[in-house]
Amino acid sequence: MSAPKVTTYAVVGLGGRCRMYLDALSKTYKSTSRIVGLCDRNAGRLSLAAQIPEVAAFAPKLYAEEDFERMISETKPNTVIVTCQDSFHDHYICRAMELGCDVITEKPMTIDAVRGQRILETQKKTGRSVRVTFNYRYAPPRSQVKELLMSGVIGDVLSVDFQWMLDTYHGADYFRRWHRNKRNSGGLLVHKSTHHFDLVNWWLSAVPEEVVATGRRRFATPETAQRLGLKHPGKRCSDCPEAGKCPFKLDLSSNEELNSLYRQQEVYDGYHRDQCIFSADIDIEDSMQVLVNYNTGATLKYSLNAFCAWEGFTIQFNGTKGRLEHKCEETVYINGDGTVPGALKKEGTFTRIYPTREAAYEVPLWAGQGGHGGGDDVMLRDLFGNPEPDKFLRAADQRSGAYSILCGIAANESIATGKWIKIQDLIHGVESPDYPVMPDSQSGFAIPVKPFTT
Ligand SMILES: NC(=O)c1ccc[n+]([C@@H]2O[C@H](COP(=O)([O-])OP(=O)(O)OC[C@H]3O[C@@H](n4cnc5c(N)ncnc54)[C@H](O)[C@@H]3O)[C@@H](O)[C@H]2O)c1
Repeated sequence: MSAPKVTTYAVVGLGGRCRMYLDALSKTYKSTSRIVGLCDRNAGRLSLAAQIPEVAAFAPKLYAEEDFERMISETKPNTVIVTCQDSFHDHYICRAMELGCDVITEKPMTIDAVRGQRILETQKKTGRSVRVTFNYRYAPPRSQVKELLMSGVIGDVLSVDFQWMLDTYHGADYFRRWHRNKRNSGGLLVHKSTHHFDLVNWWLSAVPEEVVATGRRRFATPETAQRLGLKHPGKRCSDCPEAGKCPFKLDLSSNEELNSLYRQQEVYDGYHRDQCIFSADIDIEDSMQVLVNYNTGATLKYSLNAFCAWEGFTIQFNGTKGRLEHKCEETVYINGDGTVPGALKKEGTFTRIYPTREAAYEVPLWAGQGGHGGGDDVMLRDLFGNPEPDKFLRAADQRSGAYSILCGIAANESIATGKWIKIQDLIHGVESPDYPVMPDSQSGFAIPVKPFTT
């Protein structure tokens, strides 16, 4: 029997999220994977990642940010995994492809249209592959929604209402970290909503055409600090004179993971993971509403609020034959503290079908466990294992990466200008992603001819 083919990887950005990839490559898929290079701008986190025993077993070479290209030429990885701050994704994605590598990148693919255009053009020029890791597509309950829509049970989808809630733990965390400024993250409409817009694009197998939005920061403000009785909050929790009475205090030192990943590494780059969520210098929104018109004629009404009483989402699809309602509650999560991101709360998750003029019924849920509704493990198998043919076509490339961020980029522009924004005016030459074929749009309406009785 011949030895299995081994793929070599370099990883850039060694914070909270990279651990899922390092774990998968160095444990579950270690017989077919080799980590040859690691790169980060923070020397502390770089050496921390290299000390993980299973990673150390590969003896990867370590490189600073400015030595990324040297890493590629010396270690010759087949694939570069990009898990750094969003605003640098485009740089590493493009350089990796230009230097002959394939790319796996975390979402969002990038944060604005100029960077997005560059990725699309570099991909075309080099012919390398870009995989954007939309783990939510792989969560069993969300794949099941796709299955139901593909089955035609509610006919053609004409409109969608989608509300995403971030709770006061996870939601507040975006205002403490680098995500708090649009120059780093594109704001939550890009950084976070890229997941949600991608889900809708993929669920509908449709391409967004125009977007209008409103958005404001209403909760994470100096005024809220005043209402909470915080008169002079500090710049960060660890030196805040009023931390003792702040319900949003994050004590990095009291959690082993947060302490070693961030607190102890501050000396290398001065980055503070516990900045005050009420600072005036935050420039992202925490309350956002968006309308999106699709090429199929469907319309999406979407909202994202980052200060909610529970975490998760509700979505309703209105179709020509009925309505599908899906609700999903997630457990409490703080990035990098050891909690599981986006784990399902079973009691708060359901899918219901309301056939037009027939009795509604609940669908037995496809079960999912672990990160992001069970999606992380399924996605890792698809990325690093032996992928089987997937009728849902969940593996996303730069086209889906682009269309998902374009909804958020257009929404940002609409908030700034008050206008409807056309997607085609933002990026040129983005092709339609490979989506599963949906039920024939000529299938018509299915309203039973029954007498109306009260
Ligand atoms: N798919 C998901 O569900 C999911 C969940 C969490 C994070 N993410 C994504 O993963 C990425 C990383 O997020 P995180 O939570 O790990 O953030 P983090 O702050 O914990 O880690 C980011 C790392 O990148 C490094 N870095 C920043 N700029 C760099 C540069 N120019 N060159 C090299 N290294 C640089 C930092 O030093 C840090 O080690 C983000 O793009 C985020 O959107 C995705």
